[in-house]
Amino acid sequence: MPANPTPEAACGPEPLAFTPDVEARTAHIYERVRHVVPPFEWPVLAPDIDAINRLKRERNAVVLAHNYQTPGIYHGIADVVGDSLALARRASESDADVIVMCGVHFMAETAKLLNPGKTVLIPDADAGCSLASSITAADVRLLRERYPGAPVVSYVNTSAEVKAESDICCTSGNAVEIVESLGCDRVIFLPDEYLAKWVAGQTDVEIVSWAGHCEVHERFAGRDIHELRDSYPGLVVLAHPECPPDVLAEADFTGSTAAMAGYVDREKPRRVVMVTECSMSDNVAAAHPDVEFVRPCNLCPHMKRITLPKIRRLLERMEPRVEIDAGVAERARGAVERMLAVK
Ligand code: 13P
Ligand code: SF4
Repeated sequence: MPANPTPEAACGPEPLAFTPDVEARTAHIYERVRHVVPPFEWPVLAPDIDAINRLKRERNAVVLAHNYQTPGIYHGIADVVGDSLALARRASESDADVIVMCGVHFMAETAKLLNPGKTVLIPDADAGCSLASSITAADVRLLRERYPGAPVVSYVNTSAEVKAESDICCTSGNAVEIVESLGCDRVIFLPDEYLAKWVAGQTDVEIVSWAGHCEVHERFAGRDIHELRDSYPGLVVLAHPECPPDVLAEADFTGSTAAMAGYVDREKPRRVVMVTECSMSDNVAAAHPDVEFVRPCNLCPHMKRITLPKIRRLLERMEPRVEIDAGVAERARGAVERMLAVK
């Protein structure tokens, strides 16, 4: 790291101009986001969106974006959007030379595990996750000693080193099925304590949990839901299973980010709240102008490290790349592939 970083290193690349050509080339994209991006913001976003879409073609790159990415990324440049499960699955099916992960580091690692021969890029290598950093490989080995014979199910929100110590991975979209697929009376389920509790409520398998929490979802409380219901009659409450149990007890529906989006597509509630990260509602609302979205939400500071200017710079420089130690990768890949084979 240079002692005096250049202004570009500190603030991002030079802004690009919103020319009439850029405006014309991006007009169809603005149509998709006009319900959630005000007209005065578009001249700031459109030049990067236009440049990134050109760079993607030049590099034969595919952009995968998690549901928590901003609407400019999600609707403007992504080829594949979804929850952690969909991103892992689609990463394994891509025939592009380059994968750009617009999400946090564990998601980029999962894409690299499934595509060891491809270039996997992440716009900001410091985009972490409080769950992934709550547990180490040594912790998993200690848990195995303490609960001999119990298999380890790791949430994908873990490092490759932790996955390498695990029997199988899961996401919030398949956790119950993965636990039950093992055919055991007891499993170690890590690192999210609240997700573990939610799974335990839906299976007879004994769940040994870890005390990891998502710093975004743990800030919601059951009383927030009471207050929302009082203020917004008829409100339908959708919650992510990383929320504390008192929130889930009050929710009308609990599911992964993709399951929440699916609920809105299917049921078209008149008034809804998604108890999760803020961009989720923006992205779903863009396609549902007739649904009223109540928006108390929490920002994920890690997801918000990913920005359009950083993605443009990433595709210009082709770094930072995601690399994983070969020995770790081989064992971690097994845990992810076993998950994909189940569901
Ligand atoms: P989903 O797998 O439901 O998208 O949630 C994972 C998550 O919290 C990403 O940070
Ligand atoms: Fe991790 Fe929570 Fe952010 Fe998801 S929302 S990346 S679980 S800190």
